[in-house]
Amino acid sequence: MKDNVLAAIDVGSSKICTLVAEATPDDDLRVLGIGITPADGVKKGMVDNIQGATAAINESIERAERSSGTKIVSAYVSISGNHATSLNNRGTSTIPGKQRPITEEDVERALEGARDLSLPTNREVLHSIARFFVVDGQEQVTDPVGMYGGRLDMDTHIVTGSVTAIQNLTQCVEGAGVQVEMLVFSPLAAAEAVLEDEEKEQGVILADIGGGTTEIAVFVEGSVFHTTIIPVGGYHLTHDLVAGLRGPFSHVEELKLEYGSCMPSRIDAEEIVEMEAFGGQRTKEVSRRRIAEILQARIEEILEMIYIDVKRAGFDDMVAAGLVFTGGTAELPGLIELSEMVLRMPVRTGMPIGVQGLSDSLNSPAYATSVGLLHWAAAEEGAVNGNGNGNGHGKLNLKMPGVNLGGFAGAAGKWIRTLIPK
Ligand SMILES: Nc1ncnc2c1ncn2[C@@H]1O[C@H](COP(=O)(O)OP(=O)(O)OP(=O)(O)O)[C@@H](O)[C@H]1O
Ligand SMILES: [Mg+2]
Repeated sequence: MKDNVLAAIDVGSSKICTLVAEATPDDDLRVLGIGITPADGVKKGMVDNIQGATAAINESIERAERSSGTKIVSAYVSISGNHATSLNNRGTSTIPGKQRPITEEDVERALEGARDLSLPTNREVLHSIARFFVVDGQEQVTDPVGMYGGRLDMDTHIVTGSVTAIQNLTQCVEGAGVQVEMLVFSPLAAAEAVLEDEEKEQGVILADIGGGTTEIAVFVEGSVFHTTIIPVGGYHLTHDLVAGLRGPFSHVEELKLEYGSCMPSRIDAEEIVEMEAFGGQRTKEVSRRRIAEILQARIEEILEMIYIDVKRAGFDDMVAAGLVFTGGTAELPGLIELSEMVLRMPVRTGMPIGVQGLSDSLNSPAYATSVGLLHWAAAEEGAVNGNGNGNGHGKLNLKMPGVNLGGFAGAAGKWIRTLIPK
């Protein structure tokens, strides 16, 4: 793998998607290779069968290697599943003596305080992302280094996950012969690929409805406020059709992709489609509106779950920019219209942006997470090589010894380089 080549593996419940890209001199990403395989051994975003998942990941990696002509040594990998939880925490650093400019060391001390959560031994920190700083009561400071002050508070968004889930995923990727450069929480990766700065500033919800999960990230005043995973997705939509229409899953899945909608009122009541059915009768006729009614019920339930989750996080009035959908299920006809009606906020589909080359094949909300991983990788690597583009995510990935690579100090250094424009 050449220095400027980056690799990303999105381990989803429906598909594994590996991308290889190179960072161009003008800080763009050019995709060199894509490897997509149906997922195996992954349920609701989590590995539940090491052998199956390793084989599927391996196949996806090999395809991306063949299509790019590059050997993948290490990669940024998505992590999902409802074992992951998030919270916002504050750390404080008092500047000793008389007032003097705040240093990187002061920031590191505040950060240490913020991540001092006394977690049980079966949980660990996946991300600790700087949201903003407070210097002597002055709120929303984005970069305190060099400012005068006696007290520095650092507000961070912390994502923790189950050690077992982290180890299982790492094991599968490494079993497929690729080192895990960093695990990135899926909704954060998807957000990276589709959200505009203005949306993050004004308040926005990202909801990635994939196969087995709905992944949520909420941003306000430019930084991440809340993230979560709900273990319900497109699989459940198909499953409802199986139960309601009584046909085999794989056939019903095709029926959903071809004729599905969640706006029954937009479907002609007379329209009939033929489907494979269980039982003696091999085929039967079903009304397309009936399909839409079943899908609508589940989509409304998912929308309600999103609403309740975001409200519980304390956020319902502040999302001026509304909701952005990614994930394969974002392609379900009627989703935008129904969501705008139910949630009474602006809603749009998030297409991955910021990549060139082969980008037509990635032009679907289902690839938001994989493209977002590449952006994440570019920002991290740019920061490491000292040529970061200065748009730092303000993120700090604290990798705990033993599971991830690198220690606290290294990670903090990396983050500070990302945050502070050269
Ligand atoms: N046009 C479409 N209409 C409805 N559903 C669709 C459409 N295209 C894809 N899907 C659904 O999207 C889901 C797959 O989405 P995606 O590829 O984002 O999942 P994933 O990332 O593998 O899973 P997860 O993120 O939940 O672990 C499947 O359930 C599939 O049925
Ligand atoms: Mg996904």
